[in-house]
Amino acid sequence: MAGNKSLFFFIVCAMASVLDGQTLGGPMHDKAVVCYVASWAAYRPGSGAFVIEDLEPSLCTHLVYSFTGLDTEKGTIKVLDPWQDLEKDYGKGGYKRIVNMKKRYPHLKVTIAIGGWNEGSLKYSKMASERESRQKFIDSVLAFLEQYQFDGLDLDWEYPARRDGKPEDKANYVALVKELSDAFKPRGYILTAALGAGKDTMDAAYDLAKLSRYLTLIHMMCYDYHGTWDGVVGANAPLRGTDDEDVLSVEFTIKYMLEHGVSPYKLVLGLPMYGRTFILKDPKVRDIEFGRTPVMAAGFKGPYTGEAGFMGYNEICHEISNKSAKWTHHWHEQSSTPYLRDGGRIITYDNARSIAIKVKTAIDYGLGGLMVWSIDTDDFKGFCDKETDAYVDFMERYKYMVDDPVMTEALQSLNLPDVNRISKRTAYTVNNGKLNLRLPEPQYSNYPLMETINEATVLAMEEKRILDEMDIITKQNEISDDKDEPGSSSIPRCSTLAVAFCALLVFRL
Ligand SMILES: *[C@@H]1O[C@H](CO)[C@@H](O)[C@H](O)[C@H]1NC(C)=O
Repeated sequence: MAGNKSLFFFIVCAMASVLDGQTLGGPMHDKAVVCYVASWAAYRPGSGAFVIEDLEPSLCTHLVYSFTGLDTEKGTIKVLDPWQDLEKDYGKGGYKRIVNMKKRYPHLKVTIAIGGWNEGSLKYSKMASERESRQKFIDSVLAFLEQYQFDGLDLDWEYPARRDGKPEDKANYVALVKELSDAFKPRGYILTAALGAGKDTMDAAYDLAKLSRYLTLIHMMCYDYHGTWDGVVGANAPLRGTDDEDVLSVEFTIKYMLEHGVSPYKLVLGLPMYGRTFILKDPKVRDIEFGRTPVMAAGFKGPYTGEAGFMGYNEICHEISNKSAKWTHHWHEQSSTPYLRDGGRIITYDNARSIAIKVKTAIDYGLGGLMVWSIDTDDFKGFCDKETDAYVDFMERYKYMVDDPVMTEALQSLNLPDVNRISKRTAYTVNNGKLNLRLPEPQYSNYPLMETINEATVLAMEEKRILDEMDIITKQNEISDDKDEPGSSSIPRCSTLAVAFCALLVFRL
């Protein structure tokens, strides 16, 4: 027994020493997954309190610590919460703790954000207006990055030429971004920016083509489209608008940015890890209509975030998991948004399914990746029941793909792995000459939304490859059909994807 024990002890020690020096990897795909961390989440009560050590860095490629501010007097970058951010005077050392994550996770880029809603626009407008004040700011940023060892800066000026800003901000913002980029390049720093997604903001604030040239990545803040300020129920982040005139949607923002000269691979689609809450004016109203059903001026609060009209996904999923709560579950098809109702209370939000749909959208547009605001309101403790329908839309598309006659041909050139000899993470395989889809199983006990983002990215990229191949073969077949039967009127064939969508629509109706 003693021998066994010491052998066991030896093995444990050997394993521990291996693990000790081990570095861990990132996501299993090459898209960016940018994770904002709200430093004030550390102050949330009870199980809502989020500390740096709660991060699961294998789910992100970039961490963005939020926020620093602008010193009005000096025009330089400044620490906003010295106790939380720094080590001096027995502080919590947030900067150091997040940068240290790179030791075990060398794939990570860790940057610092400046700005945010509460910083306002005016002082940024002033700083950006003159060459000298911009240079002073840039010098302070370089010293800051050097001192705290961040990999770069994320600009969150909300927004140039809006709120207290002035029209010249649009050109001055480009100048600031260009000069920062020039200073960053030789030092290897990355420069990113969070841009507002509303059409009015995009029109007034951004020279998108120029910003795209100088920024490493553009974080599109594709949320806060609707809330209690509308006076009616609405989706925080609707995938599609209510009609062609509706410019407040994720798809409109993506198309607008691409049409205005942004490189798709630099565009990162922002996803909200939170929803919006509403109190109905008439709690007895039978049907809820987005954009129509009237609500009170303020929504209700969550226990952790404590902000009327706002609820983190972790707070929302607690409500869903509470067996004695009386929420009814709904899905708003037009905007791809789930919502909950309990009498006069409504929560519109994003869940695993709506997130998976948006990830597919980002991949289909060829975007550079996904961003989340913010990782500290995912179910990072893993308290909630797992959602089981995250990939139903992938499964429905698969059902139409699998029986398409072109699929047999496509499988021959795609060289997908055989189902019996797959690497563990492969989603689409071949089984007896047919396309096979194996939906992802949860690997983590927590972070359901972050995990969905990464799994859906792999699924969507593989699905796109298959659909693209089917399209190519369909087109080639049309050409050779025309050659074989000269004079026959060839009816242009709907692309496979379009057929799948038509079929889906008919199926749904
Ligand atoms: C669950 O819901 C009930 C009914 O709304 C509520 O009274 C209770 O406090 C909730 N429990 C938790 C743990 O939130």
